[in-house]
Amino acid sequence: MSKKLKVLITGATGKSGSAAIDELLEMGNPVRAFVHSLDERSEKLAAKGVEVFAGDLHNFDEISVAMKGIDTAYFCFPVLVPGVLEATSYFAVAGKEAGLKGIVNMSQISARRDAKSHAAQDHWIGEQILNMTGIPITHLRPTFFDDWFLYIREGIKKDNKIVLPFGDGRWAPVDSGDLGRAVARIAAEPMTYAGEILKLYGPEEYNVYEMSEVLSSVLGRKIKYEPVNIERWAELDAERGADDHFLQHVTNVALDCMDGIFAGTNDTLGTIIGDKPTTLSEFFTTWKAAF
Ligand SMILES: NC(=O)c1ccc[n+]([C@@H]2O[C@H](COP(=O)([O-])OP(=O)(O)OC[C@H]3O[C@@H](n4cnc5c(N)ncnc54)[C@H](OP(=O)(O)O)[C@@H]3O)[C@@H](O)[C@H]2O)c1
Repeated sequence: MSKKLKVLITGATGKSGSAAIDELLEMGNPVRAFVHSLDERSEKLAAKGVEVFAGDLHNFDEISVAMKGIDTAYFCFPVLVPGVLEATSYFAVAGKEAGLKGIVNMSQISARRDAKSHAAQDHWIGEQILNMTGIPITHLRPTFFDDWFLYIREGIKKDNKIVLPFGDGRWAPVDSGDLGRAVARIAAEPMTYAGEILKLYGPEEYNVYEMSEVLSSVLGRKIKYEPVNIERWAELDAERGADDHFLQHVTNVALDCMDGIFAGTNDTLGTIIGDKPTTLSEFFTTWKAAF
């Protein structure tokens, strides 16, 4: 039997990164977790037997040291924080020096050369930077995560309303845990999808009116969708503490969503994880108490 690849997971305490680690441990692959802070989340990883490396993706020396002895790596940088291109460049150079056999890159479905969202355009440029390394790479371009509903859960709980700026836009919400499982599968067998850009969707496409019906049915009370325009959304988001970087991104991807950029579904995610992807109803059921 061939030796299992050792995988570096960045974003290791985040949603997809932590799910990737659980899957890799189950698969018997050794893991090094690149964590941003040493806290109770990193302690939980260490308790599972994961090698923990604390560092900042904006520090070239730290990511370089973290790559030593690593076979393949997952690049994941939060969309809320500016600086994805600096982090991507450091990761690319460090990965090339370390002789990585594969990279899985978390991008997004709205990533394209002419994206109006700076973060989405930066994801596209980041894909090009990583491609230049010559390392076998798989770019993941998921649609919106289910977790969006957790971001607005207070309004759902208090007012029985989903307030979002997505009009009648449609998408198939995808589970970040399923994405993590996909990251693990590809990082463990990096040639399977090498050179591919994978559009990843949840199993069912809806508009938010239909999503509110799914939530109402799970909760047993009526939850109404209240679409708001971009200006009103920006005000509400700023009240929640969102900064200009995030607002610039969200307001532009909301327009993308209404223009159909997020629409569609396929069975790629299910094929990669060898399982039925999580439905929106299952996600709402798991998080029922939060709503
Ligand atoms: N949400 C969506 O609907 C959606 C859709 C498509 C694509 N995506 C993409 O998904 C990615 C985010 O994935 P996710 O939601 O799984 O991640 P996440 O839950 O946002 O977690 C981000 C992780 O990165 C760590 N981190 C933050 N700043 C760092 C730094 N400077 N150096 C090292 N680590 C740092 C965080 O640690 P701390 O908490 O300790 O800072 C955290 O563990 C983004 O690239 C986004 O564009 C998201």
